[in-house]
Amino acid sequence: MGKTIIISNRLPLQIHISENDLEVSPSVGGLATGLKSFHQEGDSIWIGWTGLAAEEIPDELEPQVAEKAKEQRCVAVSLTTEEIEKFYYGFSNRTIWPLFHYFMEYTEFDPEHWEAYKQVNQKYADAVLERVEDGDTIWVHDYQLLLLPQMIRDKNPNVTIGFFNHIPFPSYEVFRTLPWREEILTGMLGADLIGFHTYDYERHFLRSVNRILYYDINFNAVNLGDRIVKAGSFPMGIDYNKFRNAALEHQRQPSSENTEIQKKLDYHKYVSRGTPLILSIDRLDYTKGIANRIRAYGYFLEKYPEYQEKVRLVMLAVPSRTNVPQYQLLKKEIDELVGRINGRFATVNWTPIWYFYRSMPFDNLIDLYSASDVALITPIRDGMNLVAKEYIATRTDHTGVLILSEMAGSAHELNEALLINPNNFDQIVDSIKQALEMSKEEQVRRNKVMQKRLKRYNVEKWAREFMKSLKQTTITRNEIK
Ligand code: UDP
Ligand code: G6P
Repeated sequence: MGKTIIISNRLPLQIHISENDLEVSPSVGGLATGLKSFHQEGDSIWIGWTGLAAEEIPDELEPQVAEKAKEQRCVAVSLTTEEIEKFYYGFSNRTIWPLFHYFMEYTEFDPEHWEAYKQVNQKYADAVLERVEDGDTIWVHDYQLLLLPQMIRDKNPNVTIGFFNHIPFPSYEVFRTLPWREEILTGMLGADLIGFHTYDYERHFLRSVNRILYYDINFNAVNLGDRIVKAGSFPMGIDYNKFRNAALEHQRQPSSENTEIQKKLDYHKYVSRGTPLILSIDRLDYTKGIANRIRAYGYFLEKYPEYQEKVRLVMLAVPSRTNVPQYQLLKKEIDELVGRINGRFATVNWTPIWYFYRSMPFDNLIDLYSASDVALITPIRDGMNLVAKEYIATRTDHTGVLILSEMAGSAHELNEALLINPNNFDQIVDSIKQALEMSKEEQVRRNKVMQKRLKRYNVEKWAREFMKSLKQTTITRNEIK
């Protein structure tokens, strides 16, 4: 049995340079947080980007960057400022990301960005090819590296390659608008197995393959003539025990850190005792429906004025892709909306929204999950959404209500949540009321079912199932030969 080589654009660790010294912090985002547990357990190496531009790293610090990565069995791929601009902010996040999330009005088709995308994918492919040995399994992740599977196969035809797409795959009618649609599909089909979070994404992909490349599809298998490629749905889980145990630990020994969030939560506990907290956590991204969520909360306070001074929204928005204009505009819009609602409804003793624009360490996330009576998660589109699962996992006494958008992949597994259409304001507002008034018995009943499911289909199981299917696909491939 060889090793597994994981490749994703972003490594699970981010490196920052401060006063000629290196600082390391964990990456944010479902891919990194989820896959990290799999990486920590097994015999894998992880190839990806540290978040630094090559020009930022002084020569004398270069070996230390490699060393920091190596400590976590990671290999750093170096990206120049221009590559970051055109490949990462450009094609990945101004073309694929909006298109795959159905934000066509935000999607740019820039041939220069496409060229950079190909070049950087080749760079990652070379980094893999340098390290792959007989018997290894290659596992490529996400939309930044869609061309990688075929680039690797071109040089090493017999290697086993899995690909996992962490974001939605759009319907054929949307995907076909991409000028480089054939190349993207061909790139993905270099893999033996292509995984998606949901069955719908898988079907969309297979339909595009059939309509655009004319390959025959038999159930979930694409017949390339000389090779069969399988597609499958594997909803990503979380490290359930890690979240649950951290929450139990939090109850035994509440965090003694004097962080701003801790101070706020302490204040809430002692001064506003009994006032329910509604939680909102996401990267600041237009797909997450944050602006609509704030509007809906304002509407809730208006429609049900009896809740004024009786409830509070705690909103954590993690800075993300700040060079992309749509993200900058959204940040401005959110600042204004929070200001407007706090300005309109606040009283001497009450601020309706506590808003934090930053990322939080794990312990603080646990504090937030544990302290919140309701989690309000309303993405317009979301491949999975692990925050919803993490919230449920930390509810050790089984109380708490999850309000979740049906547009999140995780809604398929969290049927007992209050599912809403994120464009239906009245439904969101009425669900908030329903959540705040739900009996403890009903909360417990709903959460117990979800917890059981999340515990069983955890991230370890997700990775194991994917690997098992990948192995099966390659056995079949070799038998056909
Ligand atoms: N997260 C984090 N730090 C924060 C806020 C969130 O590490 O300050 C994590 C959170 O625990 C979750 C992930 O970021 O695991 C977000 O994943 P999700 O699938 O919800 O959304 P994504 O960011 O991948 O679109
Ligand atoms: C989502 C994507 C990941 C990405 C993460 C954070 O989870 O699926 O591929 O890493 O967001 O975004 P960023 O652009 O900061 O890597």
